[in-house]
Amino acid sequence: MNRFTFSPDDIASRIMVALDFPHVKEAETCIGLLAGTGVYVKVGMQLYYAAGPEYVTRLKQEGYAVFLDLKVHDIPNTARGAMQSMASLGVDMVNLHVAGGRKMMEAAREGVEKGTPAGTRRPLLIGVTQLTSTDRAAMNNEIGIAGSIEDCVARYARLAQKAGLDGVVASPKEVPLIKDVCGPDFLTVTPGIRPRGSDIGDQHRVTTPEDAFSLGSDYVVIGRAITQAPDPRKALDDIIQRIRSAE
Ligand code: C5P
Repeated sequence: MNRFTFSPDDIASRIMVALDFPHVKEAETCIGLLAGTGVYVKVGMQLYYAAGPEYVTRLKQEGYAVFLDLKVHDIPNTARGAMQSMASLGVDMVNLHVAGGRKMMEAAREGVEKGTPAGTRRPLLIGVTQLTSTDRAAMNNEIGIAGSIEDCVARYARLAQKAGLDGVVASPKEVPLIKDVCGPDFLTVTPGIRPRGSDIGDQHRVTTPEDAFSLGSDYVVIGRAITQAPDPRKALDDIIQRIRSAE
């Protein structure tokens, strides 16, 4: 039996390439190299603040599945409005910080529903638990949350589910725990992915792509290991190959 929750033909569509570039030009070069592979693309703050909603609309017109990763964290009224604007772009996934609390998340869900163009599917609404660059010491001593990362992630995941979110962002290491407390259908989107032998950089709670899927991740987010590779297409193909052989 396949250890993953999806068919081997769908691996590319479960890989979200983080287009963390300063301009559209670099992003276009990168996705040009990945053309035809069927990967999901993730637009985060760096590219969005430089290129704006027009570029997101263009990616959708070009047929990409788009995760708009703007990590909303504001008062409920503003979060509702932000989500309405994002959903109106026709993107497939949006997110916010669970730390904004239940009222903010419920308002965000209303905004997503309100903004979704008629006759289309609403974007999945995902909550960031603890950033994969955060370790326990930073969470305890700087952010001021006591206990283990796992306790916090489990608590945040349950809260997100109660508030009507579709899933959470977390480290792949926390996926079994999240599935345990929220059930198998609650989605997990996992950054902090490093193929064997690549640079960890600023991330802390990392795993390889194949381990992330074996742990039950629904989507993996991969940035620099693909986008900064000497040959991004080869880097992606190697990752997919290793995932296939780990099945
Ligand atoms: O280059 P790298 O693979 O570390 O990029 C990870 C991407 O995932 C970045 O775009 C980052 O903003 C995003 N992300 C993350 N941790 C989260 C949520 C999003 O690293 N918890």
